[in-house]
Amino acid sequence: MARRLPAAVLISGSGTNLQAFIDAVAAGELDLELVLVLSNRADAYGLERAAAAGIPTSVVAHRDYPDRPAFDDALDAELERHRAELVLLAGFMRILTPGFVRRYAGRLLNIHPSLLPRYPGLDTHARVLAAGDAWHGSTVHFVTGELDGGPRIIQGRVPVGPGDDPDTLAARVLAVEHRIYPRAAALCAAGRLTLEDGCCRLDGAPLDEPLQFQPEN
Ligand code: GRF
Repeated sequence: MARRLPAAVLISGSGTNLQAFIDAVAAGELDLELVLVLSNRADAYGLERAAAAGIPTSVVAHRDYPDRPAFDDALDAELERHRAELVLLAGFMRILTPGFVRRYAGRLLNIHPSLLPRYPGLDTHARVLAAGDAWHGSTVHFVTGELDGGPRIIQGRVPVGPGDDPDTLAARVLAVEHRIYPRAAALCAAGRLTLEDGCCRLDGAPLDEPLQFQPEN
């Protein structure tokens, strides 16, 4: 059997995106070896999902470290120990240092709940509603030094309805995240996606606009 790309998933909470990876691997749709689930919080429910799936887990609590570089060194040590080559941030609520980001450049992905470049940062669902946008969604992107600003890989779009509140919108966005993040990871696993000179390439060609995914209702 061909070697599968060893991947770590970094979480801070519920881990539904982690579950989407676990399910996609089990379904034979994602050719990754999930070698580690790492959380900065010991109470993250995603750790239980990982354990149930037989994936090694690790807690690196940011409060145990004096500063960000020391915390990131500890993360790095865990990733090295488990020989992770791809790092998937999935609801990981810590900002990584430039050194860490550089070290994992092209191998570090994040998912953000908005149609980037719109709404980087927090509270995206409330901000979309306040702006009266007709569409919302989520973006998988390479992580670079700019917060939520790295080259975009794939976006999932969902409509915003008149009766939506931040919770209904969050649930709709989360459902589309579970469709797009395994797709992006699968492209990495197949070696089809690269980051070169700050530009995302798919099969060697620049991906000027992210791939688009829109669920059928
Ligand atoms: C997702 O909405 C993701 O976009 C954001 O954090 C949330 C994680 O959810 N970065 P889960 O822990 O995967 O359920």
